[in-house]
Amino acid sequence: MPRQLFVTTALPYANGNFHIGHIMEYIQADTWVRFQRMRGVAVDFCGADDTHGAPIMIAAEKVGKTPQQFVADIAAGRKQYLDGFHIRFDNWHSTDAPENHELAKQIFLDLQANGLIETRTIEQFFDPEKNMFLPDRYIKGECPKCHAQDQYGDNCEVCGAVYAPTDLIKPFSALSGATPVLKNSEHFFFKLSDPRCVDFLQAWTQDGRLQPEVANKVKEWFTVRTNPDGSTSEGLGDWDISRDAPYFGIEIPNAPGKYFYVWLDAPIGYLASLKNLLDKRGQSYDEYMANPELRQIHFIGKDIVTFHTLFWPATLKFSGRKVPDNVYVHGFLTVNNGEKMSKSRGTGLDPLKYLQLGMNAEWLRYYLAAKLSGRNEDIDFNADDFMARVNSDLIGKYINIASRAAGFLTKRFDGTLTTGFADDGQALLETIRAQSEQLAQWYDEREFSKVTREVMLLADKVNSYVDVHKPWDLAKDPANNAALHQVCSVLVNAFALLTRYLAPVLPGLAAQVESFVGQSMTQWDAQALVERIQPYQHLMQRVTPEQLDALFGVKEPEAQEKPAQAAPKKAAKAAPAPVDPNAPGGEALAPTISIDDFAKVDLRIAKILACEAVEGSTKLLRLTLDAGEKNAEGQPTTRNVFSGIASMYQPEQLVGKLTVLVANLAPRKMKFGMSEGMVLAASHADEAAQPGIYVLEPFPGAQPGMRIH
Ligand code: MSP
Ligand code: ZN
Repeated sequence: MPRQLFVTTALPYANGNFHIGHIMEYIQADTWVRFQRMRGVAVDFCGADDTHGAPIMIAAEKVGKTPQQFVADIAAGRKQYLDGFHIRFDNWHSTDAPENHELAKQIFLDLQANGLIETRTIEQFFDPEKNMFLPDRYIKGECPKCHAQDQYGDNCEVCGAVYAPTDLIKPFSALSGATPVLKNSEHFFFKLSDPRCVDFLQAWTQDGRLQPEVANKVKEWFTVRTNPDGSTSEGLGDWDISRDAPYFGIEIPNAPGKYFYVWLDAPIGYLASLKNLLDKRGQSYDEYMANPELRQIHFIGKDIVTFHTLFWPATLKFSGRKVPDNVYVHGFLTVNNGEKMSKSRGTGLDPLKYLQLGMNAEWLRYYLAAKLSGRNEDIDFNADDFMARVNSDLIGKYINIASRAAGFLTKRFDGTLTTGFADDGQALLETIRAQSEQLAQWYDEREFSKVTREVMLLADKVNSYVDVHKPWDLAKDPANNAALHQVCSVLVNAFALLTRYLAPVLPGLAAQVESFVGQSMTQWDAQALVERIQPYQHLMQRVTPEQLDALFGVKEPEAQEKPAQAAPKKAAKAAPAPVDPNAPGGEALAPTISIDDFAKVDLRIAKILACEAVEGSTKLLRLTLDAGEKNAEGQPTTRNVFSGIASMYQPEQLVGKLTVLVANLAPRKMKFGMSEGMVLAASHADEAAQPGIYVLEPFPGAQPGMRIH
């Protein structure tokens, strides 16, 4: 049977659009898949939306949709990103699809038949108003250690204490505000502590298949584990795989009102997507999975390693199924000065905005390739670095090779190339060809940065060859026609070889070059020389600083220090409203707006968790705000906001206060970092005559996250 790869990327939560972290993962996997295909390996590349769980159920309820409608709306938005960045999944499915319901139930029954499922009664907080058990993240109260108010059920953001939700003083439900009651519930557990599981997982995780840094981390989990209350225990713990109704998920067979915890059925979604693809092709899923040459590979980020290296292989193994052959873990992408991207709100670089600004998707693919390695390490997107690598390397060194040679060939030689080269031309092409296996190995090991670096070194050699032979000088004297023909022919062949090496990263460009040189770029190994070219058409534009400014919403330095209440977008260009001493606050009223206009501004109550002076600025304070937001895993997230109020407040005056946040303002990059919204403050239009700026504070009782209507 021929070699067959089944490749997946992590299934994104269907609670929001893709952010740049998702796109990075897909570009990494897509590049790898394209390379494998160029080597003649058959690949099926599958993705899906991860639709289940309490956060999605609650988010849907909030906007008055059924969870099914909610996740369908998210799914409808996926294509524009994937197409836009040349990410070519063979199938995109959903964990709520019938295939997944069926597979999850069968896998559970198989685990049960294998004696690895057990039920236990556990005591949990229950919201008597919402009539549901509360996940830890939906319980709040007073910290048992430092007595800070309004802390989450599992740890205190003020003193850092870790505890169980039952330790909270005066706990309340974050969903209804009601006081939760303790209630017993029967839960299903996967007995990972069973010696069969431990033995299998120890072998599977330590046999060299995982990246060394990942295997080392995993090793620790076999010896110690951290309990919810912060204490530690020995060895692998059993895994709680059930949740009680109401829950958006898959009902457990023979257990009405009990659902699979989302992380049980989520990876099964990989198989469901594959099965759906095979069904559409009329292929048998069982036969496909039985192929001994099948390799199953999952690309994931570093935050979900436990699920993919313990729970998932054990689930497959002990339900009698094929286990993954590998899990390729990447680090996190940060944007500009290393600000960590939030999982729920991808600050910084909005991939859709990138496309809408007309920025070339392959710039980003190239830039990420130039940064990515096979190791689990974080990488940073830096705007200046991005511009340098695209403009100087990709375009300056590589693309320009084609434009330097093509004009002469078309004008002087009717687009026909010669195949007889002088020694140094021949040697140059040999040098490029000789890197083929090394580059292939690096692609296979996901060492993309080594690939791009080597290709740029080869491009440097080609450019030295240009500088030595100076085609523009040769062109001056018809006596040098043969030499000119030869040099330009070498250059086009060199360009074609380099293009093939970059084709997994730059598939759109490679397709353009196919028509330019009349060769297919879909096979890794090329023997034939280019015989003729089509007239050169511009292959790629340069990145401009204006595009990057627009992408990040950067403003002129002057305007960056304007007080927070200045309208951000226009402030740089439009003059401030004229001072009118007769008008209230020294400023005429703005034109009337409709209620719909007002509704576009999402104002939320936010709690100032931390506040500090900004080094290098006399006007700004940096605020860390809790606006009641959580990421997809239900963990609270905060916002970083800069506000021009330093002249009026000492940082410690503001800590612990509530205020009003413009929550849906596009984030903007400032000299000191990203500002993710702005807080409301009042001031007189005539700053000189009536200085002072006053932060808004709500009446007591308002809670972070409440909307202001
Ligand atoms: N739904 C789960 C995965 C289930 S897999 C059966 C999940 N979803 S997620 O949307 O939060 O993340 C999807 C993928 O994006 C994960 O691999 C995650 O590591 C990755 N990334 C999220 N933020 C990222 C960055 N900032 N950088 C790179 N990848 C990041 O987890
Ligand atoms: Zn505390």
